[in-house]
Amino acid sequence: MSLWGGRFTGKVDPVMEQFNASMRFDQRMWEADIRGSQTYARALALSGVVSVDEGTWLVEGLEKVADEWRRGAFIVHHSDEDIHTANERRLTELVGSALGGRLHTGRSRNDQVATDARLFVRGECSRIGGLLKELISVCVNRALAEKHALMPGFTHLQNAQPIRWAHFLLGHAFAWQHHADKLQQLQANLNRLPLGSGALAGNPFNVDRTFMAKDLAFDKPIPNSLYAVGDRDFIADFLSWAALAMVHFSRISEDLIIYSSQQFAFVRLADAYSTGSSLMPQKKNPDSLELIRGKAGRVFGNHAAFMMTMKGLPSTYNKDLQEDKEPLFDSIDTLDGCIKILTGVLSTLEINETNMKKGLSFDMLATDIAEYLVRKKVPFRETHHIAGQAIKLAEDRKISVNKLTVNDFKSLHSAFDEDIANIWDFERSVETRNAYGGTSLSSVLVQIQELKQWLGEG
Ligand code: ARG
Repeated sequence: MSLWGGRFTGKVDPVMEQFNASMRFDQRMWEADIRGSQTYARALALSGVVSVDEGTWLVEGLEKVADEWRRGAFIVHHSDEDIHTANERRLTELVGSALGGRLHTGRSRNDQVATDARLFVRGECSRIGGLLKELISVCVNRALAEKHALMPGFTHLQNAQPIRWAHFLLGHAFAWQHHADKLQQLQANLNRLPLGSGALAGNPFNVDRTFMAKDLAFDKPIPNSLYAVGDRDFIADFLSWAALAMVHFSRISEDLIIYSSQQFAFVRLADAYSTGSSLMPQKKNPDSLELIRGKAGRVFGNHAAFMMTMKGLPSTYNKDLQEDKEPLFDSIDTLDGCIKILTGVLSTLEINETNMKKGLSFDMLATDIAEYLVRKKVPFRETHHIAGQAIKLAEDRKISVNKLTVNDFKSLHSAFDEDIANIWDFERSVETRNAYGGTSLSSVLVQIQELKQWLGEG
């Protein structure tokens, strides 16, 4: 039996019944729904709508329903429109309709679903935060183990300056850390309770909403019932967070796809995260990373889709809001998969230091030539120009810039001396960038230390 059959005489079109139902996907919120109902049962007992004993029986009955879900023994009925209907139906079967029929007193599925969704998203924030920490941990440990490897750093994907491979890794790890912090803020922001708002106008049985907030570990009840039942900002925020997280994962994927190509060959993906070609026997493709890059579009789409759903809705609850769930669940599942795969890729790939070194060319030290002159008190604007002339001179002679003689350099500026020869050392170049945040070994170790502390490993 549906929860709302009283005023209807005609039968619902079976296609409409299917169309309306959300049980197929919202059953994954079963636990949040039980917890919310248990709290509501306690509040009903406190306000005297049910006796203390009845309150206890309701809570215990709901625990039995939870147990069935946990054991995979819950049997979904065709008539279970959504998870709220299903749990209440089963509770009533277990405790009898005289008692079970009282649970929903003063409550609506509107304040119920808004509460369940918050509880559910809160749990997912913690779980996904944990996955992110694992990913960051893998990245940081890898940076520590491979702190000596040097590689070309790029801007515009053109050779720029030598950097440490560890510095590259940490560059991504810090983006993830920042994003993990944002997830925590998001989680803290959603800790406000809709329950006790009724369908829209409020609760007529004086349930203690502050008690319920505490019971469910929320900070406080939402102060306006219309707002409480119609607000889904926490879902939009989560979907937007997820979209940006995927942008980050997509960007490191792109880096590694490029670095694993034969032209670069800086890294080699483990077989476990690669696939072959049905036609070309030599192929080893980075499908894992390409899928992550591809799925970023899908998660962005989920955010855009839900923004379109919310836009233009009149105040309070509208059934359109049921359309929050599928994008939400899809983004959660996609993120879950992507973080796990990326963690796997990063913990198993092999780097090829020889190829990374081969990628370094002496013109990547042009900035170091300018800096050499700066240290001899020549103004930087001038030195930049002179270093450019040195590169051009070498280019014209079709030689590498490190093959220019001291006299060649002296012809460009009198401040050049024999010690210009010390410039042609990539390690030295990297080690000069030792201000906080730079790519020198000491700066990289500080970064590792910072992240380890944040991870609680330091
Ligand atoms: N399944 C619904 C949802 O996800 C529950 C709320 C239904 N409320 C209502 N007034 N029909 O939004």
